[in-house]
Amino acid sequence: MEATSVFISGSSGYIGSHFTKFFAKKGLRVFGLDRVASPPAVQSYLQDFLHTDLKNETLVKTFVKKHGIHHVIHCAALCLVGESVEKPDLYEENNVKSSDIFLRALLSCGLQSFIFSSTAATYGEPKFSPITEDHPQNPINPYGQTKLDFEKILIQSSQENGFSWGIMRYFNAAGADPEGELGENHDPETHLIPNACKAVLEMGPTLKIFGNDYQTRDGTCERDYIHVMDLADAHYRLLTSIQKGKQGGAYNLGLGVGYTVNEVVQEIERQTDKVVPKVYADRRPGDPSKLVASNAKAKNELGWTLNYSDLPTLVKTTLSWFKFI
Ligand SMILES: NC(=O)c1ccc[n+]([C@@H]2O[C@H](COP(=O)([O-])OP(=O)(O)OC[C@H]3O[C@@H](n4cnc5c(N)ncnc54)[C@H](O)[C@@H]3O)[C@@H](O)[C@H]2O)c1
Repeated sequence: MEATSVFISGSSGYIGSHFTKFFAKKGLRVFGLDRVASPPAVQSYLQDFLHTDLKNETLVKTFVKKHGIHHVIHCAALCLVGESVEKPDLYEENNVKSSDIFLRALLSCGLQSFIFSSTAATYGEPKFSPITEDHPQNPINPYGQTKLDFEKILIQSSQENGFSWGIMRYFNAAGADPEGELGENHDPETHLIPNACKAVLEMGPTLKIFGNDYQTRDGTCERDYIHVMDLADAHYRLLTSIQKGKQGGAYNLGLGVGYTVNEVVQEIERQTDKVVPKVYADRRPGDPSKLVASNAKAKNELGWTLNYSDLPTLVKTTLSWFKFI
């Protein structure tokens, strides 16, 4: 029997590139799409790559039909919260409208399953912690709103068209390929772990820590960091169970434990034996003090186990990646 083919949108990005390698190593035939060229390290794991925008309906249909693809993981999106506040229309256009065009194109090619990269930002200000999948969804920024809007489109479309769906709500994705081939390299980078690693390795500016008067253990924000390899594994498990007949569902993907900003910084200092250059700045509007996932549903239903999301491994893999590039 021929291996399953899976189409990963956003395959040139941080998460999509790790998924590409992970799925290829599991023996699946992986096809990518991105409007950014595929980095050579990713290209080697792809059967074929469609270098275009999600909304290019004609090219998407031709590519998917040519390769007989029926399973899709949709990672492509704009995902900077601050930018989404400045350019809400761009985010609506890209993350909702273009994703909808992409989904419709796939529907005309025999789509069987569609797994969507969503986010904890769809929950907004937490009402309780840890956050379960039935927590109210009230996003507080346009980025989170666009992700929630597409979640709704996806569920509605699945009801009308009968394909299986998965909505994966990531908390703070972090870490890098343990083999050092791939890593996180956003420009601009807004995530704590890469920015703190770059600061200590003198590859980036002084780390800004936003707020040290929150109601947490040490006054800095507490977040749930999930390793990108563990994210990939959850998607693989959901796809496998969908192929065995599961209809799909929404899952929080987080460690279920939070680390404060200072705890992350201390771990980087411990591993490098250097002080992270840092300054404390004002709180950022809309930053809750604590965001921690309940991951019980993913563990129970998908048999998900976390192998890389402890803080030392998150930091170690990120440091190795920056030392490599
Ligand atoms: N990184 C995180 O901590 C995090 C947390 C929660 C959710 N997510 C979600 O995970 C997904 C991937 O995030 P990432 O960190 O890898 O982002 P990324 O920016 O590294 O990758 C996204 C990729 O999508 C591509 N893309 C965007 N719009 C496109 C379009 N219209 N057509 C074609 N390609 C397009 C970009 O070129 C980029 O390569 C996103 O959907 C994001 O919302 C990420």
